[in-house]
Amino acid sequence: MEETVEIKEGLQGVYITKSSICKVDGQEGKLYYRGYKIEDLANYSSYEEVCYLLLYGKLPNSKELVDFTEKMKKEREISEKTKDIIRKFSKEAQTLDVLRTAMSSLSADDGKPYSDNESENIEKAIKIIAKTATISAAIGRIKDGKGILEPDNSLNHSANFLYMLTDKKPDKDSEKLMDIMFILHAEHSSNASTFATLVACSTLADIYAGVTAGVAALKGPLHGGADEAAVKMMKEIGSPDNTENYIEEALAGKKKIMGFGHRVYKTYDPRAKILKSYLDKIKGNSGGEINKLIEISLRAEKMMIDKLGKSHGIWPNVDFFSGPLYLHLNIKPELFDTVFASSRTVGWCAHVIEYWRNNKLFRPLEQYEGSVDLVYKNISERS
Ligand code: SDX
Repeated sequence: MEETVEIKEGLQGVYITKSSICKVDGQEGKLYYRGYKIEDLANYSSYEEVCYLLLYGKLPNSKELVDFTEKMKKEREISEKTKDIIRKFSKEAQTLDVLRTAMSSLSADDGKPYSDNESENIEKAIKIIAKTATISAAIGRIKDGKGILEPDNSLNHSANFLYMLTDKKPDKDSEKLMDIMFILHAEHSSNASTFATLVACSTLADIYAGVTAGVAALKGPLHGGADEAAVKMMKEIGSPDNTENYIEEALAGKKKIMGFGHRVYKTYDPRAKILKSYLDKIKGNSGGEINKLIEISLRAEKMMIDKLGKSHGIWPNVDFFSGPLYLHLNIKPELFDTVFASSRTVGWCAHVIEYWRNNKLFRPLEQYEGSVDLVYKNISERS
């Protein structure tokens, strides 16, 4: 007699642990990092300050922020070994695969990858956050056939990332926009990549193994790969007047429109609202191509909200408007997911550090529906 069990596909609606890192209010469209509204952090904070907040659970005072920022700067450099991996892999491999491999190599440079000491793990987190941004920029340079640039420690995290990628120190507006992108992608509760990180570290694998699992999970277009897929769709639409037809046809063909919908948000993703507000700011000084993508994105947004917003709870998410903004910052679509991953390192690490306080191995069940006790026949007896 088969046991009746309740299966929760994709763990939908299942709570896996308690956390005080991030609240995602999917009905009201609100997002908090350690109790602070994402709008306030985007307007007034910096990625360094948000990293401190997520790792330590409180906003730093000025001395704490200076010390933390100095630590991040000191950890930006990557070893020759890691650079060699990036050079060897970048030609044919996809960017996030290169990032995953290079990030995984960071454990080799850390004499003691696993620690059960929280302060040591925060130091490891700082290494991972700082170095992953350097790795991400280095991948972009090698993909462009250029040399890897060393960090410029006169610059903050976001400005230094853009400098290492473009060999140009960004203007203040670009620096602020890059910081917004990093802040908005830093953390989002138990999303698929953070969950993958927790599953890996729940076996007491080290934090480097955890973030490697996180990067692997982030790659898919249902998660971190959606921003690149969304901009690819905008380019396929080609002209603003073709937007409505394209969406109509895609939906009729049961295709998912990338950058829309969310497992938790059943209203407008607050991060998408903030990103949308920056489209107006860049419209004036972006090239014609980007302005065209912006117009397409706004028409797609209107149509999707009319058709699936209120009725089906399918609204723009963080990945929809990111594309035109990244392009404005001279970040190519193939690099979008590495930027997402390098930002989310802090969220992955913060959750591991918190979860390890009361670690419990993740080991869910499956309802077995196959055979049992089959008779083993030698190969000569099999038809
Ligand atoms: C991120 O979890 C997080 O917090 C993630 C994230 C973070 O910061 O870590 O917020 C980042 O990953 C954002 C999401 C990026 N992905 C995309 O934009 C890809 C497109 N979106 C969909 O694939 C989908 O909305 C998901 C994967 C995001 C959520 O899917 P669910 O909750 O598993 O729901 P579902 O796929 O079962 O969809 C329910 C219905 C289906 O229709 P029916 O089969 O019931 O008729 O809604 C439809 C879906 O077809 N639907 C869409 C749609 N999203 C859902 N239809 C058209 N276009 C879409 N985008």
